[in-house]
Amino acid sequence: MFKKLAIGAAFALALAPAASFAAGGGEQHVEDYQFSFEGPFGTYDQNQLQRGLQIYTEVCAACHGLKYVPLRTLSDEGGVGLTEDQVRAYAAENFTVYDPELDDDRPAIPTDHFPENTAAGAPDLSMMAKARAGFHGPYGLGLNQLFRGMGGAEYIASLLNGYTGHEKEEAGVILYENTAFPGGWISMAPPLSDELVEFADGHANDVEAMSQDVAAFLMWAAEPKMMARKQAGFVGVIFLTILSVLLYLTNKRLWAPVKGKKG
Ligand code: HEC
Repeated sequence: MFKKLAIGAAFALALAPAASFAAGGGEQHVEDYQFSFEGPFGTYDQNQLQRGLQIYTEVCAACHGLKYVPLRTLSDEGGVGLTEDQVRAYAAENFTVYDPELDDDRPAIPTDHFPENTAAGAPDLSMMAKARAGFHGPYGLGLNQLFRGMGGAEYIASLLNGYTGHEKEEAGVILYENTAFPGGWISMAPPLSDELVEFADGHANDVEAMSQDVAAFLMWAAEPKMMARKQAGFVGVIFLTILSVLLYLTNKRLWAPVKGKKG
């Protein structure tokens, strides 16, 4: 009886529609956005990643870095999908890197990484989508993660979308109220505003749409091989299924003479 109740309660908590819980005194709200890469067959939406890259370059890169992400991966299949020429042009146009051999700065080339950026005291975003969990299960059971993923992209989109417009000053630092940030006050000023970035295809550029685009891009940055991982898992499942059937039939055949005598 108790077991049944416990399982029921665990499931009810795991399936609750939005992760809303108290953390460090603030009520943290993470919206459960639907991303194209969710689920066992989900894939990145190439157009969305390209918009996200544009937002990252024009807005976020002013303060943040992506130091673990090689620029050449922008042309990888299943990801942002630029051509190699586009990557070369993108690198040279947008970033300069320090070259110890030249003892000077030079335009970035595809084999360089995105530059790091510590000027504003902002964290590097390479792994951010995996370092943050938007969904927390009922205390450590991980059930929520099992059903809805870790929610790193959801957390980032909710963070960019979660400014209330209130601000306060504390020890000389301006803090902005944010419904997704643990504790409720973040030192990053709202980076996005409606129509801040113009897309070549005229795609929606309100804060909500851009938050999701850049969150998807950062998910790709943190896990560029997600598609390959899912495919490998799927092939593994098929392989194991066929192997099980073969072993079952072999087993039956091997024991048939023995079992036959008895019966
Ligand atoms: C003006 C500088 C600035 C810009 C522009 C900026 N950020 Fe930040 N960001 C910061 C700072 C500073 C922090 C650290 C905030 C803190 O911990 O209070 C931060 C923190 C973050 C965090 C981590 C929050 C956490 O959970 O610790 C994320 C994610 C983030 N920024 C994403 C972005 C994205 C995406 C963009 C572009 C749309 C962006 N930022 C643009 C300065 C900036």
